[in-house]
Amino acid sequence: MQTLRDLPALRAAVAAIKAKGKALALVPTMGALHDGHMALVEEARRHGRAVAVSIFVNPKQFGPNEDLDAYPRREAKDAQMLQAAGVDILWAPTVEVMYPAGFASNISISGISEGLDGAARPGHFDGVATVVTKLFNQVRPDVAIFGEKDFQQLAVIRRMVADLDMGIEIVGLPTQRAQDGLALSSRNAYLSEEERKAALVLPRALGEAKRQIEKGEDVAAAISRVRTTVSAHGFDPIDYVTLCDAVSLEPMTVLDRPARLLIAAKLGKTRLIDNIAVDPA
Ligand code: PAF
Repeated sequence: MQTLRDLPALRAAVAAIKAKGKALALVPTMGALHDGHMALVEEARRHGRAVAVSIFVNPKQFGPNEDLDAYPRREAKDAQMLQAAGVDILWAPTVEVMYPAGFASNISISGISEGLDGAARPGHFDGVATVVTKLFNQVRPDVAIFGEKDFQQLAVIRRMVADLDMGIEIVGLPTQRAQDGLALSSRNAYLSEEERKAALVLPRALGEAKRQIEKGEDVAAAISRVRTTVSAHGFDPIDYVTLCDAVSLEPMTVLDRPARLLIAAKLGKTRLIDNIAVDPA
């Protein structure tokens, strides 16, 4: 595996892969890799004969009161894991390489990035869309793999790639979960033992509401029960619990097409998100 930090070196490595006619798959990450990321890497292997993983903690997608400084950084361990998984390129640019002095561009995807996390975290999806565009232009992959855990992010990226004719296949991989059901996330590292137990209420409450809504129960009532249960386990505030169209993320009050039930809430200092598919019979 080559670990690369500057653009000329990256371009040369990518050119060598393309010269051999190999398809290149990219897994964009912010590091602190866990089994969820490694599942994305495995999926990348199925789509590309060469795999690049980027590690870049992107300052533009963190708000002023968010956890940019505290965000876990473990590049040496991450590199070992990627090497063992047979990754070809680790792209780990510095902030100066990604955003040189004078950088003035912003990619903003309207509509789909405005509700949910876009409302709770102003500017977040502009930051994501801008860095993902840069990563795509830098690495020029044929395919890029993202997790469904960040469901709105995946939807925003699909919209952007279609709107801007980027010509990159976007693959979404189902959320990887711990054995007890908690969605894997780098932010789980912030949870105390007690919080880690309480956090299980997220997948459980979503699963219960999915069953209720799919059986025909009232959507608003099911959502209200999720709010009550999650609050009772110490989550505060709850940024949203919403049933949305699975593609456009428009809010839904009746289950008349494939949907997604999404939640974001804070437990102590840690903001957690999760989501589940809800499908009409
Ligand atoms: O999902 C993430 O880890 C990040 O949002 C991404 C896609 C790597 C962009 O910084």
